Amino acid sequence: MCATNINLVFSLEALVAGQIYPSTTSPTSRSSSPQSAPSKPSPSVLSWNRYGFTKGGDNITIWTAGQQRVVDTATYFARGYLSQGNYLSNTTENRANLIIQPDSVNYTFANSLTPSAACPLYESGDTSSVATTFRASYQPQIANRLNQYLDGLTLNATDIGVMQDLCGFETSLNGNSQWCDVFEDEEWLDYEYADDLNYYYGSGPGNPFSATVGFPWVKAVSELFALGPNETTPGALGLWNTSVSESVYPLSLTAPDPRRKFRSSYIVAFRGYVALERLACTTTPANTTVFHLANTTPDPVPTELFVRVRFNRAPFVIPGCTSGPGSTCPLADFTQYVQTTRAAAAGDFVQMCGLQNISNATSDATFFTVVDPESLQTVVPLNYVVGTTNT
Ligand SMILES: *[C@@H]1O[C@H](CO)[C@@H](O)[C@H](O)[C@H]1NC(C)=O
Ligand SMILES: *[C@@H]1O[C@H](CO)[C@@H](O)[C@H](O)[C@H]1NC(C)=O
Ligand SMILES: *[C@@H]1O[C@H](CO)[C@@H](O)[C@H](O)[C@H]1NC(C)=O
Ligand SMILES: *[C@@H]1O[C@H](CO)[C@@H](O)[C@H](O)[C@H]1NC(C)=O
Ligand SMILES: *[C@@H]1O[C@H](CO)[C@@H](O)[C@H](O)[C@H]1NC(C)=O
Ligand SMILES: *[C@@H]1O[C@H](CO)[C@@H](O)[C@H](O)[C@H]1NC(C)=O
Ligand SMILES: *[C@@H]1O[C@H](CO)[C@@H](O)[C@H](O)[C@H]1NC(C)=O
Ligand SMILES: *[C@@H]1O[C@H](CO)[C@@H](O)[C@H](O)[C@H]1NC(C)=O
Ligand SMILES: *[C@@H]1O[C@H](CO)[C@@H](O)[C@H](O)[C@H]1NC(C)=O
Repeated sequence: MCATNINLVFSLEALVAGQIYPSTTSPTSRSSSPQSAPSKPSPSVLSWNRYGFTKGGDNITIWTAGQQRVVDTATYFARGYLSQGNYLSNTTENRANLIIQPDSVNYTFANSLTPSAACPLYESGDTSSVATTFRASYQPQIANRLNQYLDGLTLNATDIGVMQDLCGFETSLNGNSQWCDVFEDEEWLDYEYADDLNYYYGSGPGNPFSATVGFPWVKAVSELFALGPNETTPGALGLWNTSVSESVYPLSLTAPDPRRKFRSSYIVAFRGYVALERLACTTTPANTTVFHLANTTPDPVPTELFVRVRFNRAPFVIPGCTSGPGSTCPLADFTQYVQTTRAAAAGDFVQMCGLQNISNATSDATFFTVVDPESLQTVVPLNYVVGTTNT
């Protein structure tokens, strides 16, 4: 039996980090989702369904970067979250505290949700133009194929890119898109791979500074996990570099390998998120014959702590750390993995980014535990009541 007692949800689309302190009791008073919600449950509703919520009276804290669409996403996430379950029983106390960090500035250094902006060398590691080269290898053929059926209109490679994008955007907004049927399966596989190359070499493992800029918050999360739920106040995991994958990574610039797990559609899907879960598991004793003395409490069942990563709900193993239940990583091993293997892969932020001569440059993300004076704080109130919404 495992229950999550800290869970951090990072929405890659919007870089929202939420820290959640669920109660150990299972939620009993689930409400239907707000009527304005789309038929597909929102990530916040999914988070509530998976993790349960705090008892009424607790607040949640959400750290967000300051770009307006990101703050909006955090706000809607909070509203969805606060509209669920036993949060509704305490309409005066339940709040989300939004801590809004300066966005894409260079004076926060590693203490940021947008640290790449403060790493001057990061851009030099971005070779996502290889995706443009790959697109040129298939888009003209698609245009030629479609042009056979057209009279008075000639499509070129640029049009093909936009038409394939429209399939994704329209499907997300409307639930379907007739553009999708225009293209053949092979053409979608090429489109998929172009995006994989774009993210892999732009901001993923193919950018040598990705691990450097992502590491400070991975380290901060691992420290939060090690401290535990009551001690906290308000790419970088190396998931795509395993020994079995030597022939898969780095991604080929010309030929998609179907064995690759790095697929941008899994990771940066619309409303996509990464969840880092801290699991407290009680082990069932092999010998269930337990003797109790009257008026005594039995010894507590031992609890062990584990860490699991999920991408959009799907569990994703941490390389070399799978000895826990369901291939989870024991918390102590996770801490060790972050402090040794990942620290070595990332290097020091200040050194790697060439900031040695900036006297106040920092390599540490401390915003989880120390409120950054540059941040703004706002409170998102509980604004839904059961079955209705005021938006
Ligand atoms: C709401 O939460 C506050 C703070 O924890 C608590 O004092 C109060 O009793 C709660 N009210 C209800 C109706 O549960
Ligand atoms: C929750 O946040 C509200 C608004 O900031 C505050 O008044 C209340 O004391 C907080 N409750 C708890 C339990 O921290
Ligand atoms: C931040 O950006 C400004 C404007 O480009 C530049 O003048 C300054 O040197 C940069 N600071 C750091 C620490 O990189
Ligand atoms: C570092 O110093 C600069 C210049 O004084 C300031 O603008 C910036 O906010 C400081 N950054 C940090 C993280 O202290
Ligand atoms: C396709 O045509 C448009 C409109 O004429 C033009 O702007 C674009 O550069 C063309 N793309 C290519 C790849 O030739
Ligand atoms: C956290 O604090 C609460 C309230 O004081 C307590 O009931 C709970 O056992 C604590 N949890 C841990 C993991 O220490
Ligand atoms: C990938 O793993 C190998 C073997 O563990 C290691 O030597 C290499 O530095 C890793 N690469 C990155 C980018 O982490
Ligand atoms: C369980 O423990 C009891 C008491 O020590 C013992 O008598 C019994 O044989 C054990 N059962 C098993 C299946 O090991
Ligand atoms: C730091 O300053 C020293 C002395 O001015 C200079 O030699 C060195 O190149 C500078 N390093 C960086 C990374 O800018």
